[in-house]
Amino acid sequence: MAFPHNTHPGRFIVVEGIDGSGLTTQSTGIVRELRAAGTAAFQTKEPTDGPAGGVLRLALTKRLGLTAETFALLFAADRMDHLNADVIPRLKMGTTVVCDRYIFSNIAYQGVELGQDWIQALNEKSILPDLTIFLDVPPETCMKRIYARQARIEHFEDVDTLSSIRTTFLSVLRRFRQEHDAPIAVVDGSNPIEMVTRDIMRHVMPLFRT
Ligand code: TMP
Repeated sequence: MAFPHNTHPGRFIVVEGIDGSGLTTQSTGIVRELRAAGTAAFQTKEPTDGPAGGVLRLALTKRLGLTAETFALLFAADRMDHLNADVIPRLKMGTTVVCDRYIFSNIAYQGVELGQDWIQALNEKSILPDLTIFLDVPPETCMKRIYARQARIEHFEDVDTLSSIRTTFLSVLRRFRQEHDAPIAVVDGSNPIEMVTRDIMRHVMPLFRT
């Protein structure tokens, strides 16, 4: 199965990790640093606020019951819609897109129950990022952060589930690096916020040296 590479002028950067690992905080930091360096950058996330993303939010907050298969298909549908409506048009304009979660979340979260091959096949029309950062944070630390910030605990948010998703994430990313030549960097996300952003930017800035 061959995933298309990004052939557009803009760079596509993805930030992945388990719940509570600081994805949105760090995406914001990357976009801030890129803009400070004079690069046009757009911050976005999956699941989106689009049509499929809205249904996913209801399921994630346990207000709507979906089968695991329907859940998985909606994540993939939301991603296709996101790529076509938001990501690709900006990459074509030469804007760098920084996206919180992408195909690796789908394979790691839904692959545990449904098998990675099917989820991977659902995503095979999605372009590979130019760089994927995995924010590695111990599941216990993530759960402490989640309890401190959220009134409602979502689907997947317990230490055992997050531990097995973290292990799956690391093996999926290793496989994509080997089989699809996908550039992946694992960054320690348990350090203070500014230190994590600095560590991430060490991987990001070389993308702009051509
Ligand atoms: P968020 O908390 O980062 O907004 O993500 C929402 C949840 O959705 C999070 O628990 C991870 C999960 N998720 C999947 O299970 N599959 C996917 O494809 C994506 C993008 C997210």
